[in-house]
Amino acid sequence: MATFQTLPGFREFYPEDFARRNHIFRLWRQTAGAFGFAEYDAPVLEPLELYKAKSGDEIEAQLFSFTDKGGRDVALRPEMTPTVCRLVGAKANALKRPIKWFSIAEFYRYERMQKGRGRCFNQFNADIFGEPGPEAEIELVALLVQCLCAFGLTEQDFYVRLSDRNLWFYYLEALGLDEPRIRGVLGAVDKYEKYGDDAFTGYTEQFGAIDGAIKAKILAFLQIKSLAALERELAAFSGEKLSARLADWKKLLRGLDAMGLTRFVEVDLGVVRGLAYYTGFVFEAFDRKGELRALAGGGRYDDLVQKLGGPALPAVGFAIGDMTFALLLEERGLMPKFVQAPDVYCVIGGEAERLAAFGDIHALRAAGFRVEYPMKELAFGKQFKAAAESGAKLALIYGADELAKGVVKFRDLTERSERDLPRDQVVATVRDFLAGA
Ligand code: HAM
Repeated sequence: MATFQTLPGFREFYPEDFARRNHIFRLWRQTAGAFGFAEYDAPVLEPLELYKAKSGDEIEAQLFSFTDKGGRDVALRPEMTPTVCRLVGAKANALKRPIKWFSIAEFYRYERMQKGRGRCFNQFNADIFGEPGPEAEIELVALLVQCLCAFGLTEQDFYVRLSDRNLWFYYLEALGLDEPRIRGVLGAVDKYEKYGDDAFTGYTEQFGAIDGAIKAKILAFLQIKSLAALERELAAFSGEKLSARLADWKKLLRGLDAMGLTRFVEVDLGVVRGLAYYTGFVFEAFDRKGELRALAGGGRYDDLVQKLGGPALPAVGFAIGDMTFALLLEERGLMPKFVQAPDVYCVIGGEAERLAAFGDIHALRAAGFRVEYPMKELAFGKQFKAAAESGAKLALIYGADELAKGVVKFRDLTERSERDLPRDQVVATVRDFLAGA
């Protein structure tokens, strides 16, 4: 008989895995709440057109796309950004500013599988719309950092690399490149860390060999790792755009410093991000050891809402993926062990006692307690063993003798003490006991 397996790159969440995922989602949600972000969601299946030429060639090549029964070209969402732009764009005038939204959702990309990369993964997305200045970046970098620190990670575990596509644009313009060539160079810079010189192959194929002096300038620029070095390099160039941009950089870094976040953030012009829509500051989070793929990525995309049919609306945001993040938590021993322990385990004498127990079991559950009992008749010894193994703090024992007296036995499984409890006091006593436990 044929056996069916999950498709390559797709994950199954057995209860223990699901508990881990819930833990991650819960803290992300809580952190977004603390920063005043509102949660939204949208369809998993979208018109293919939404991603064509908007997300960039790489994502476009990775789409899970097909034609539906109505002849529409559709794709499973590979990212949230175009979707959230559509949502915000459609109601931009009615939305209270600043628009600060987040979502936790599943995405699909037909990628080559590697550690921390799958074809189906979750992202926490957070975006701010309507804020043109670096105040939005301050808020988002702070949220990104806190979304990782909430789990016990520190600046020893991860850092955020901060860069700027605007600066790259102005710089390459100043070196005399036109827009198509600038985009070509940025594509090469994005791949440079991984492929070295080969990263320029695409550029060379399109525009011919790059001028040696210009290339040397580009390679020097992508090594820049501090604001001071940046200022030194830009001192040779004049222009309002560049000096205004440096002022934005200072504002951003001062804000992050005032929040106490400088230790998490590094200026690094080697980051430019592969997605086509970014227009300004861009950032990516990595583990300090440099062993894992990116934990998170984001940046400013001031033109996308309008390109997708909405009004002109500046925007900036980021997404954290759950796969590399879970690997990092596991590696640092920060993923809690999840045991689904009940509060109460009911030990039941026989079929007659079972019916008496059912009344209490349901009342306890309705009062919000986690209650377990054996589904079928078992010897007392086996039930006590099961109660101990379940991790419950207390057992209620429904024996024929007790029920005849109108009581149940209440056993404290930690103290190993026991007493009789009148039936009508079960819920109140359990509540008091667990509140004090
Ligand atoms: P991205 O860099 O493509 O950005 O993805 C963000 C994060 O999602 C990555 O750093 C990684 O953790 C995770 N991720 C991406 N692809 C995969 C995969 N195949 N398997 C596992 N994890 C993956 C974006 O998606 C932008 N839309 C982020 C954004 C939001 N920009 C502005 N707002």
